Amino acid sequence: MTERQIIICRDAPDLSRRAAEQFVAMARQTLGAHGRFTVALSGGSTPKGLYALLAAAEFASRIDWARVHLFWGDERCVPPDHPESNYRMVQEALLSKIEIPSANVHRMTGEDEPARAAARYEGELRQLLPLRSGVPSFDLILLGLGEDGHTASLFPGSAALTERARWVAHTWVEKLDSHRLTLTIPVINNAAQVSFLVSGAGKAAIVKEILTDSASRYPAAQIRPAHGRLCWIISEDAYRP
Ligand code: 6PG
Repeated sequence: MTERQIIICRDAPDLSRRAAEQFVAMARQTLGAHGRFTVALSGGSTPKGLYALLAAAEFASRIDWARVHLFWGDERCVPPDHPESNYRMVQEALLSKIEIPSANVHRMTGEDEPARAAARYEGELRQLLPLRSGVPSFDLILLGLGEDGHTASLFPGSAALTERARWVAHTWVEKLDSHRLTLTIPVINNAAQVSFLVSGAGKAAIVKEILTDSASRYPAAQIRPAHGRLCWIISEDAYRP
């Protein structure tokens, strides 16, 4: 049974701060227990504030980056310096401002042919992460929520959403006119902790359905870590009690 926590924040800056505090606390606890902290980062705009805070001295100094390994939950199939790249967003907000070994940064190769990039990333997960029930297990996966209920790059109706064998899928997103790479449900639901970071009034109805209706069909409603904790860090404008 998934343990679920809901944290309601005043606004986006408060959401970023709460998420940064959670990140530091989990890093400290996990490093103390296992000597390594593995995180899959979310793309999009909401987490930018978190990444900027983690880069600030107030938080960066509390994290032993030499033992943190950063991955991505999804990526746009573009080069790493492309304006749409999730890697570039994290590079600008965080990586360029902290002392983290380059060997600890594991980006998805959006510049590669999608199927090859997906297979390559699966190989990295197999090599770098512990397997739990035969599936890679992250310590923490950060996710966002789209206004159609997608998360990572698991969009409604996509084959990637129903993929249960592969750990990393590639998918064509018609409405975005772009190819994407994404972790699949088996990997996401195998994490020790999954934290959603959600702000924006346009998402309030979706959040309410996902939190209250176990039959919700939104992709994000399928995120239920089998052995882990699920946390929703939500700004007030995206929450309806
Ligand atoms: C991406 C993200 C995607 C994002 C949602 C929410 O690559 O864009 O992985 O799933 O988290 O679309 O995006 P916002 O945080 O910008 O609303």
